[in-house]
Amino acid sequence: MSKVPVARSIAELRKRVAAWRAAGERVGLVPTMGALHAGHLALVAAARAECRRVVVSIFVNPRQFGPREDFANYPRPEADDLTKLSKAAADLVYMPAVDEMYPTGFATAISVGGPSEGLCGAQRPGHFDGVATVVAKLLIQAAPDAAYFGEKDYQQLMVVRRLAHDLNLPIAIVGVPTVRDADGLALSSRNVYLSAEERSIAPNLHRVLRETAATIAGGEPPAPALCRATAALGERGFKVEYLELRDAATLAPLADTPIQPARLLAAVHFGRTRLIDNIPLA
Ligand code: PAJ
Repeated sequence: MSKVPVARSIAELRKRVAAWRAAGERVGLVPTMGALHAGHLALVAAARAECRRVVVSIFVNPRQFGPREDFANYPRPEADDLTKLSKAAADLVYMPAVDEMYPTGFATAISVGGPSEGLCGAQRPGHFDGVATVVAKLLIQAAPDAAYFGEKDYQQLMVVRRLAHDLNLPIAIVGVPTVRDADGLALSSRNVYLSAEERSIAPNLHRVLRETAATIAGGEPPAPALCRATAALGERGFKVEYLELRDAATLAPLADTPIQPARLLAAVHFGRTRLIDNIPLA
């Protein structure tokens, strides 16, 4: 296993990618904030399967964290991450410092409407502007043929799709299914915040989502099914931030009888951890 090279500047990143593209090689980008787990590595594997060259970015983006969120404490196990990416045969890790991404005087923000409204957008003001701004910058800096995002953050994936489409970026946005532990809990860098007892209860979030999606797909009207699910989550100690059925492509709220492909999305607070999950309606 050879050690993956690291680029810390935009110039270095561009030089490497330009050489690959000049050689006619397809380039894939996997944007991350590090603290890598099997979910991130599934994105790398998806990129590997489709692209001759894979760039992984690691940047804990201050602009997408709220003032009371965990930016300062967000895990940053750099050496471990580089070992994982070397094993996963990434071709380059792009790891810019904050002032490379946002030099003094930086004054531009990208705000995507539509899919960023409601759900996580309602509870985390400015979050999706921060995500859209950094993702647009990463896509422009790396200029890949394709970029890979997890369905774990389904609203984020839809925001990025909208952004790439609206700004005519010639980059395929690829969604990758959520990777879960055997008990159903979606892998997340924030799962380390769960105590052992919380960790054993946390999979109930996915279980309730699955059961609720099945009931609605089986013909029960969404409103009572969602109401029961909220109560069931409450009984397990989850504080439900939102639990909603949305149009799977636009994330528009659904009328009572969903005919279009729908997605069930939830965010809950559990102890000091915020968990999100979502599943398609079968
Ligand atoms: P981060 O939370 O590090 O996630 C990076 C990518 O990994 C995202 O596309 C996310 O959806 C995906 N991912 C995380 N957990 C996953 C899982 N269990 N299964 C599948 N994919 C998973 O999301 C971000 O970083 C940032 O907002 C970013 C897009 C990098 C912009 O700063």
